[in-house]
Amino acid sequence: MKNFSLHLATKVLFGEGQIANLKDIIPKDARILITYGGGSIKKNGVLEQVNAALKDHTIFEFGGIEPNPQYTTLLKAVTYVHAHKIDFLLAVGGGSVLDGTKFIAAAACYKGDAWDIIKDSSVIKSALALGSVLTLPATGSEMNAGAVITRIETGDKQAFHSPHVLPRFAILDPTTTYSLPAHQVANGVVDAFVHTTEQYLTYPVGAKVQDRFAEGLLLTLIEEGPKALHDPKNYSVRANIMWSATMALNGLIGAGVPGDWATHMLGHEITALHGLDHAQTLAIILPALLRIKKTQKHEKLLQYAQRVWGINEGSDAEKIEKAICATENFFQQMGILTHLSDYKIDASSIPSFIEKLKEHGLTKLGEHSDIGLEESAIIYTAAL
Ligand code: NZQ
Ligand code: ZN
Repeated sequence: MKNFSLHLATKVLFGEGQIANLKDIIPKDARILITYGGGSIKKNGVLEQVNAALKDHTIFEFGGIEPNPQYTTLLKAVTYVHAHKIDFLLAVGGGSVLDGTKFIAAAACYKGDAWDIIKDSSVIKSALALGSVLTLPATGSEMNAGAVITRIETGDKQAFHSPHVLPRFAILDPTTTYSLPAHQVANGVVDAFVHTTEQYLTYPVGAKVQDRFAEGLLLTLIEEGPKALHDPKNYSVRANIMWSATMALNGLIGAGVPGDWATHMLGHEITALHGLDHAQTLAIILPALLRIKKTQKHEKLLQYAQRVWGINEGSDAEKIEKAICATENFFQQMGILTHLSDYKIDASSIPSFIEKLKEHGLTKLGEHSDIGLEESAIIYTAAL
């Protein structure tokens, strides 16, 4: 196991009814800005619950944060924060609202050009306090220090990380997810699944605890994901998916092990240029990447085949191929397509993806830093 330092500082309030506890976990004298997306929280009663809990607090609202949160919208929120002397941000929604709010928190305290935060997150020296009420289990943003921001005008979708934007608390009430459309449930399950594989399907370092945790998350998502589509109001199913998604990217399974993350980086360029949902890009790239990197990932792929998919028959190569096919089938079973051509994206787009990877300095990806631009092009081609 590699050395690691781990500080899981977000307080988690999990379960039905936990939104009411907002009244006690946000300081009474705070000037709170509730940030949200396109209005799902108004339709499903979550905003009503938040307002009821905060009836004795001073609250303001900023809505309209888009899926793949847009830089220009977030800058408007920063102006609002200054104008109303906001000192606490409460993100209510999915990963996009949470990520956008992290950016607002950092940008509100930064004097220079706000895009500097994306280019070099070490410029973030402080941020407004923030907390979250999560309504879409997927990204893990509720318990991590990362965020992904999109600037559509320039075709950029980039991540930044800073301990200053770590949410102080995460309220996880599985009943808030009952109103999710099926394709967003599927997106969440696939995103959490791929967060886990990014930290598990690399090379062995003798990290048995992390491996077993990761396998537990993968098995839970495989078992519960399809159930959530067929039985949307099953509390236990929703609870297990919600906790899996948080655990997949809160730092725990990634501590002391190598990380890949190439699937995410190649996927972000597809979203930036073609607007696909984040998880759709992952379902396209992961199977292609696993096939191209079979040799480098041999031992962990075999372990994955045996422990996660129960594949024990055939040669090692056959077991690995069966496991990759099972992964693809799982994504398809969740209703997510697994090829670029399914979205009418052909080989003519690959040079623009490569150009953007180059521009973003993503030229040495993967757990061995051996995925250069040429190999990225091979992976995109295999994903056609
Ligand atoms: O905007 P509203 O009206 O709220 O509707 C949203 C949105 O249209 C809807 N939704 C959310 N909760 C709902 C609901 N609809 C009905 N009922 C509910 N309970 O779902 C739509 C998608 O929401 P979004 O927040 O965009 O989805 P997700 O949580 O998948 O977030 C995706 C974003 O997170 C980034 C992605 O790149 C993408 O920009 N990621 C962030 C990460 C992080 N911070 O650690 C890591 C991830 O790998 C990922 O890159
Ligand atoms: Zn993701």
